[in-house]
Amino acid sequence: MRKNRIAWRGPLGKGAILCGAIFLFLGLWNSAAWPQAAPQDPAIERGHKQFQQSCGFCHGPDATGARGPDLVRSPLVAHDVKGDKIGEVIRLGRPDKGMPPMPLTDPQVLDIAAYLHARADEALRSARVPSEYPVEKLLTGDPEAGKTYFNGTGGCKSCHSPTGDLAAIAAKYSPIDLEARMLYPRGKRTIAIVTLPSGEQIKGPMVHADDFVIALRDDSGWYRSFSRDRVKVELQDPLAAHRELLDKLTQADVHNVFAYLESLK
Ligand code: HEC
Ligand code: HEC
Repeated sequence: MRKNRIAWRGPLGKGAILCGAIFLFLGLWNSAAWPQAAPQDPAIERGHKQFQQSCGFCHGPDATGARGPDLVRSPLVAHDVKGDKIGEVIRLGRPDKGMPPMPLTDPQVLDIAAYLHARADEALRSARVPSEYPVEKLLTGDPEAGKTYFNGTGGCKSCHSPTGDLAAIAAKYSPIDLEARMLYPRGKRTIAIVTLPSGEQIKGPMVHADDFVIALRDDSGWYRSFSRDRVKVELQDPLAAHRELLDKLTQADVHNVFAYLESLK
């Protein structure tokens, strides 16, 4: 198995060139043609899906790079064996460089590695290697649409405010860092749901809690505090909600919201 892979990657021998020609003919490079390709390892299929979901936004849906580097021609990927190097990058991330650590399982890492190796092999055999990253394409979200989304269907407003916690956020972080933080937030501000004796509920990020007082920031950004003995308090894991929400975003939503956040300077 391993020998095989090394043979594939060796200097472009006759076999590789022939294969290149055949694959080129099949138009395999074109991802639209992917489903018609010869039956492939189901791990590659699974890895492809997982990749698009967890990594595509930064590395491009086909791994040729966007804000994150091209992984198809990455030396690290080329030297990886069954996820040993890729897995390490996924789990530890490179937080200072815009790559967040991600808690994927071993099988998920194996699938992603299988997918990336398949892409790398494919690229090696193909002459039509894209020469540019689609950065431009990814940076053209619509900030107005993002704002509408943020305040409306996106539901971001229930936890964030452009004049509160996210004020001038784009000035605070580099674009890559901001994106990583949006997709994989690091803070752990708990959400408090306070039920008043009247039955009215107030919900928002918890700002303070001790045995006597619970304080939160409400929808309109006001700081509100309550005596614990007069209200009922429920606390929620905020990052779970944030993650769930981001799962529902389409790529277009992500780009628009990101463009909007980038306008908060
Ligand atoms: C929020 C953006 C982001 C996400 C999401 C992300 N990455 Fe990255 N990744 C980056 C950036 C930026 C770098 C470059 C870091 C550096 O300069 O060392 C990187 C680097 C890498 C590298 C090292 C490449 C090399 O040649 O050194 C690998 C491998 C990698 N990412 C794999 C993945 C995988 C697999 C996923 C999904 C499970 C993923 N990344 C998700 C931004 C991201
Ligand atoms: C249920 C609450 C909740 C919702 C809804 C939510 N987030 Fe978050 N978000 C958080 C929490 C908690 C953090 C972690 C940082 C913190 O504690 O303030 C966070 C972090 C972030 C960050 C990074 C801030 C920083 O300073 O690091 C960005 C950007 C962000 N969210 C954007 C969004 C966008 C855009 C939406 C809507 C699509 C959204 N969030 C919806 C709870 C939420």
